[in-house]
Amino acid sequence: MGRERQTNADYVPEPVQAYDRISASYPEIAGRRRKYLDSVDRLIVERISGKAGSLLDVGAGDGERALRIAASAGIEEVVLLEPSAGMRSRMKAGPEIWPICLEQLDCKQVPFAGRCFDAITCLWNVMGHLGRAKARTNALAQLRKLLAPGGLLFLDVNHRYNTSSYGFTRTAGRFVWDIVWPCEHHGNVVVNWEYGSPRQRCSTYGHVFTGREVQRLARAAGFSIEERIVVDYDEGCKRRFAFQGNLLYCLRRENPAVNPAKDAASAAQTSSISASVI
Ligand SMILES: C[S@@+](CC[C@H](N)C(=O)[O-])C[C@H]1O[C@@H](n2cnc3c(N)ncnc32)[C@H](O)[C@@H]1O
Repeated sequence: MGRERQTNADYVPEPVQAYDRISASYPEIAGRRRKYLDSVDRLIVERISGKAGSLLDVGAGDGERALRIAASAGIEEVVLLEPSAGMRSRMKAGPEIWPICLEQLDCKQVPFAGRCFDAITCLWNVMGHLGRAKARTNALAQLRKLLAPGGLLFLDVNHRYNTSSYGFTRTAGRFVWDIVWPCEHHGNVVVNWEYGSPRQRCSTYGHVFTGREVQRLARAAGFSIEERIVVDYDEGCKRRFAFQGNLLYCLRRENPAVNPAKDAASAAQTSSISASVI
């Protein structure tokens, strides 16, 4: 995602519309976070290399990352889910494409029914483009159904308490605000991009997460958290403490699923708890 700030900008397009607009400049925008994105890719490859034969990438963008991960991990079957026509137009021919929003994924419907993947990726805060906690929980629960037994889902989110990105004062303010008045909407932001020549601007809606929020989402959707890795958003290196970076999660499908209906309600409550070290 791009630079984020909360704003009352006059017109903010919905995410898919915004990605259609910026698609021609997506390599430039992604290039600014190259160290971070490449580092996340490496961490995923280390964990699936030689163990996975199929990969579903959700919110795949131009598909470049999924193809690189698949090539490095020796994966032959790749499916890309991407709702933006602009982003899809940048994809290389070859992989199967699901041209839908994650919220539209219904595992009972063709062509999704009966499909199953050894690894699923949902990278660079794609989850933050789904409007509500309930939508995120439902989407994750669908992804769980598409995971093969023993399969892993990798998900990275922009961390709401990342002092390197947002500064100490702002992060502390968010933290206190979450304690005083816990609310699902606190993580909602407007994402701003500047790109191209001559310079253009585009904004869209996003959500930045606390660790506790992801923990609740994962549990509500029937996943256990196998690993949580903190990755510096500027340098791409691994960090020790959650407040030092973005959060990459490696989720394992729990079997049987916990009660998603019951836990969806608790997932909707944003964290009011400690500084997201889980
Ligand atoms: C920050 S980009 C990340 C793209 C890719 N994962 C990467 O890391 O290069 C976010 C992507 O999520 C897609 N997206 C936005 N809303 C979505 C939704 N509701 N369901 C699935 N994907 C969505 C956008 O079209 C865009 O391609």
